[in-house]
Amino acid sequence: MKLDQFIRKQTGCSQRQARHWIIEGQVELSGVVTRDCRIKVTRFCTVLLRGEVLQRQEAHYLMLHKPEGYLSATCDAQHKVVLSLLPQELQAELHIAGRLDLQSTGLLVLTNDGRWSRCLTAPQQKLAKVYRLETLWPITPETAAVFEQGVWFESEGLRTQPAQLEILGRREARLTIYEGRYHQVKRMFQAVDNMVLSLHRESMGGITLDAALPAGAWRRLTQAEVASVPVR
Ligand code: URA
Repeated sequence: MKLDQFIRKQTGCSQRQARHWIIEGQVELSGVVTRDCRIKVTRFCTVLLRGEVLQRQEAHYLMLHKPEGYLSATCDAQHKVVLSLLPQELQAELHIAGRLDLQSTGLLVLTNDGRWSRCLTAPQQKLAKVYRLETLWPITPETAAVFEQGVWFESEGLRTQPAQLEILGRREARLTIYEGRYHQVKRMFQAVDNMVLSLHRESMGGITLDAALPAGAWRRLTQAEVASVPVR
């Protein structure tokens, strides 16, 4: 919405009055006086009219090192939830961009910016999600070729995007996928008669789990990490 429309809507004044205030330099947008009536007001900016707050909404982008045994949910009667690891004042605002299963560990991204999180997780965006994993049975050499061709998921009626498997040991590998379907990694290994025993997410697109964060710790994303997600 343009700034003059925004002021009109918030205060109930006329368009003429709104423009007058803006041109007179009585409006601040995110800390800067602006005389541009047509500048866009987004959900995450602060608007002051003659020093009075019309809108103040900060965008939050966080990474959390998810520990094992925490549910990727906001509340649950049975399990500890990941949101409980964050400061109370942020908990109500945030949602999870790409869940991890109860026993999975690693990079979890949380935000209050729904548009941004959709771009990080939407399968059409094809952003790489990298997992390190351990399996019950030795990983056969054919597994990489099967994953590269895509695995048929009967319940969704779709084939997974080509994924890359880097075999690190007899039962250890790094897998790069480009979607985030329900239990995707576990189901891919089930399709080749194997089973994932442990799963750790290392990165999502341009966001890599900070090695300085122990399990259960979090930090805000840097500007470069936020900007690495192409918002369309
Ligand atoms: N795929 C899974 O099977 N589990 C996860 O937690 C993440 C991806």
